[in-house]
Amino acid sequence: MQKITNETILKIRKPTPRYPVLKEIEKRFSPRFFSDEMVSEMDLNSIFEAAQWAPSAHNHQPWYFYYTKKGTNSYTNLFSTLNTYNQSWAHTAPLLILACAIITNEKGENPFALYDLGASVISLILQAQSLGYFARQMGLFDKEKVKRIFKLEKNLEPFIIIALGKIGDYTSAPGTIVELELDPRPRKTDVAKELIDK
Ligand SMILES: Cc1cc2nc3c(=O)[nH]c(=O)nc-3n(C[C@H](O)[C@H](O)[C@H](O)COP(=O)(O)O)c2cc1C
Repeated sequence: MQKITNETILKIRKPTPRYPVLKEIEKRFSPRFFSDEMVSEMDLNSIFEAAQWAPSAHNHQPWYFYYTKKGTNSYTNLFSTLNTYNQSWAHTAPLLILACAIITNEKGENPFALYDLGASVISLILQAQSLGYFARQMGLFDKEKVKRIFKLEKNLEPFIIIALGKIGDYTSAPGTIVELELDPRPRKTDVAKELIDK
């Protein structure tokens, strides 16, 4: 297979908004190939700070994040919970983030927990994007295994694992991964209309 450059991948995968949007939204897509460069501590602070300032129902902030760096035991353990497909590409991510929803609190079950977690995750991802990183979320992992090996508290529901890092040089990516990236991710054009009484 001919070597595919990042320029080609970006041309296919980068959003093509019809109207002006934030530059982070215009740049964001979810790659499957990362460089070895570790996310700096300063940037990590900003990334989680952005998550913290997301809106949430009753300001309950029902989210908690664990992160782990490549080369550590916890990274290997968290990685081991991913399904085979996710393992085929996520091993290049220098950082994995486990995003958990706090599903119950002193008032009982929080029906907004997952919605609020999603809001904090996109806040985190757009902050990361503004700092030059990319992220890909993974919902396909063994949640029970995560709870077991990390002995998570009962009110924490692991929901998404996020692969985060600088985008890799796709000329050195395996052909199978490049193949996946050549698949564009178009969006529905009909996303909203004015609500009219019937
Ligand atoms: C809740 C959720 C779960 C996802 N799970 C996976 C996953 O397990 N593996 C994967 O490779 N991508 C996963 N993704 C990434 C989506 O496939 C990706 O965001 C979508 O195809 C749109 O592409 P884009 O993010 O590049 O715009 C997930 C995304 C979300 C929001």
